[in-house]
Amino acid sequence: MKAVFIDNYGGTENLRYGDAPTPEPKPDEVLVKVEYAGLRWGDVMARNGVPSRARPTPFVGGQEATGIIESVGHEVRGWKKGARVMVMPFGGAFAEYIAIHPSRLLPVPDKVPLEQMLAYPVNMRTAYYMVYTWAKIREGDRVLLHAAAGGVGLITLQILKRRFKDVSVVAIASTEEKLKLLKAEGADHVINRKTQNYVDEVLKIWGPKATGFAAGGEQSGGVDVSFNGVSGDTLSTDWQVIRKRGRWVIYGFSAGRGNLDTSKFGYDGITVMPFSSIAWFGTPEFAEATAFIQEWLETEALIKPEIHPLADMQQVQQAFEAGNTTGKVVFKV
Ligand SMILES: NC(=O)c1ccc[n+]([C@@H]2O[C@H](COP(=O)([O-])OP(=O)(O)OC[C@H]3O[C@@H](n4cnc5c(N)ncnc54)[C@H](OP(=O)(O)O)[C@@H]3O)[C@@H](O)[C@H]2O)c1
Repeated sequence: MKAVFIDNYGGTENLRYGDAPTPEPKPDEVLVKVEYAGLRWGDVMARNGVPSRARPTPFVGGQEATGIIESVGHEVRGWKKGARVMVMPFGGAFAEYIAIHPSRLLPVPDKVPLEQMLAYPVNMRTAYYMVYTWAKIREGDRVLLHAAAGGVGLITLQILKRRFKDVSVVAIASTEEKLKLLKAEGADHVINRKTQNYVDEVLKIWGPKATGFAAGGEQSGGVDVSFNGVSGDTLSTDWQVIRKRGRWVIYGFSAGRGNLDTSKFGYDGITVMPFSSIAWFGTPEFAEATAFIQEWLETEALIKPEIHPLADMQQVQQAFEAGNTTGKVVFKV
């Protein structure tokens, strides 16, 4: 079968589209014929060996795919050949077949196309926790959303604009095409991070924030919440637009680790909220997020992903890392 290998940890030159043996499922596994595989920032991290290089190279990459169950091991209960499923392995999804334990399977609802399903189980879970569980967004909040046209960003915007009446969003992205999409999705304001200084722009939109001994905060300018999945230089600037007692959710490092100096904004009482979905495994909120996603899949217009051939993995990951992809990116396998 065809698969995409990570030959060594590092840049995209280490990705190889080649031949691999079709996996033999164990008695407690199912074999899934993959139709589509999804790309996430987690794939860039895995390729770079972040957070761990424990896995010996070469190995087949990919952490999410959708497809059809081809065969079922004799110890497996509750799954049938022909079922439409999403698989969430720790690797091996960039391939024509994957053998996997049923604990890493999700059913795909009949009405949801396999390529569209990929946008939800991980990205929407992340967005759900950030909006409801962690930042506890309220009506009237003003929100700054970095990488708003990305996988997690676009879904976060959709939740904020479809499930709240009075949440204002300033959305950041790097191309005019993405800004157009964000406007169409309801963003109140958009900023091109390549051509504009986002701190200046936010303060122009919502006015200067109260700092130091100035009373109040809620009534001043700036934003109530920043959702920041990019970090890098923005860890030195976001606090300049987050109002007193505001919330700063930091959930990713697409632009690098950055440097967070809390002495700059200590008097503003901003709550820094590092976030990872992993922190909610096995909690009641996990079940709440699952129910939210199921309801959304049943009732809402779903994201149409960018679709590329699996063989183009190298170029597509380059574009993804350069910020030149929009929304969810998937591969036809
Ligand atoms: N904490 C969690 O549980 C969790 C779960 C899932 C994902 N994440 C994190 O969420 C983030 C988004 O993941 P995703 O898969 O949805 O990726 P993505 O947002 O689709 O892609 C990353 C985006 O970051 C933006 N970006 C801003 N500055 C950048 C820079 N200097 N270099 C490269 N990109 C830059 C780019 O958009 P523009 O060019 O348009 O700005 C790019 O498209 C990642 O950091 C990921 O690790 C966290």
